Amino acid sequence: MNEGVWAAPGRVNLIGEHTDYNDGFVMPFALPHTVVATASRRDDGLLRLHSSDVGGGAVELRIGDLAPGRGPGHWTDYPAGVVWALRDAGHPVGGADFHFESTVPTGAGLSSSAALEVVTALALDDLYGLGLERWRTARLCQRAENVYVGAPTGIMDQTASACCTEGHALHLDTRDLSQRQIPLDLAAHGLELLVVDTQVKHAHSDGEYGKRRAGCEAGAAALGVPALRDVPYEDLDAALARLEDEEVRRLVRHIVTENHRVERVVAHLEAGEVRAVGPVLTEGHASLRDDFRISCPELDLVVDTGLAAGAVGARMTGGGFGGSAIVLTDVSASATIRKSVREAFAGEGFGEPRIFTAIPSAGARRLA
Ligand code: GLA
Repeated sequence: MNEGVWAAPGRVNLIGEHTDYNDGFVMPFALPHTVVATASRRDDGLLRLHSSDVGGGAVELRIGDLAPGRGPGHWTDYPAGVVWALRDAGHPVGGADFHFESTVPTGAGLSSSAALEVVTALALDDLYGLGLERWRTARLCQRAENVYVGAPTGIMDQTASACCTEGHALHLDTRDLSQRQIPLDLAAHGLELLVVDTQVKHAHSDGEYGKRRAGCEAGAAALGVPALRDVPYEDLDAALARLEDEEVRRLVRHIVTENHRVERVVAHLEAGEVRAVGPVLTEGHASLRDDFRISCPELDLVVDTGLAAGAVGARMTGGGFGGSAIVLTDVSASATIRKSVREAFAGEGFGEPRIFTAIPSAGARRLA
């Protein structure tokens, strides 16, 4: 194949936050918002990248020159990193022309970078006949982000973009990448999930994400387990009693209770008790705010205002320090909640949030 058009979605995470680099459980679903790539092969060893969403012309890179740490710290690092990761893993990838168009909000905690990575990998997979399995595509994209871009993120976002299916949330075990597609038809239960993008921009390479990750690894080491996933919920109190560092204790408590919350949400969904998911989301927010300490005033305001206006549950979603919150609500209360959140933001002098309804959508795919 010489050319084509591919799409990869952003994601929202229903529950399971910061568990993915602790070998734990997550439950994202794909958004209808995608990065679309129109791509073709070229035989001169050049990678030409162009986007209609950012200023500036096309960027041309020689694929043989790509190396970690050499990127300009620009959006092009993500697709260039994918080319590097594929070639570094021994896949016979040559040059290509890429034109990208995105409807995934950037810096909103909705995985616009993972969508960009996955659409690049999918296009190259088809253009060069690599025959990659989806989970492997996700791993290679994560490597691009960790090693080439330099952000120490887990595997959730790339797997969500590569593997989600329409109408389902993805119950993913991040240790072995085993997956279950869990049907998620909120409308059938008179419910709706709002995404509230606070428009407060976050950045993973800023250091706080890495600090949380290091703290979790210190906790696992102190407890003598490979990862915090290996601390059973039933043993949490005993584990906490063995930890001296107060900060590490808080991080461990979040991860162990959050893994348990994922299991509770799966059980509720499988039993058809969709409303019962709400309070679990709200508990998750308290844990991220008080134990993991990655919320911010805007995210807390969405959650508090949403709940006060009748939401069934609410929490921040994604990496934290800005980005988006999710609010689970009866369809009948949705308009009131949207209005209350907008008014609360205006009242605090915060910028206007962007609010939309999240529909579980398809994962990455070839369009043409
Ligand atoms: C970011 C990272 C993910 C995950 C989440 C938090 O989205 O890219 O790997 O750690 O934060 O759950």
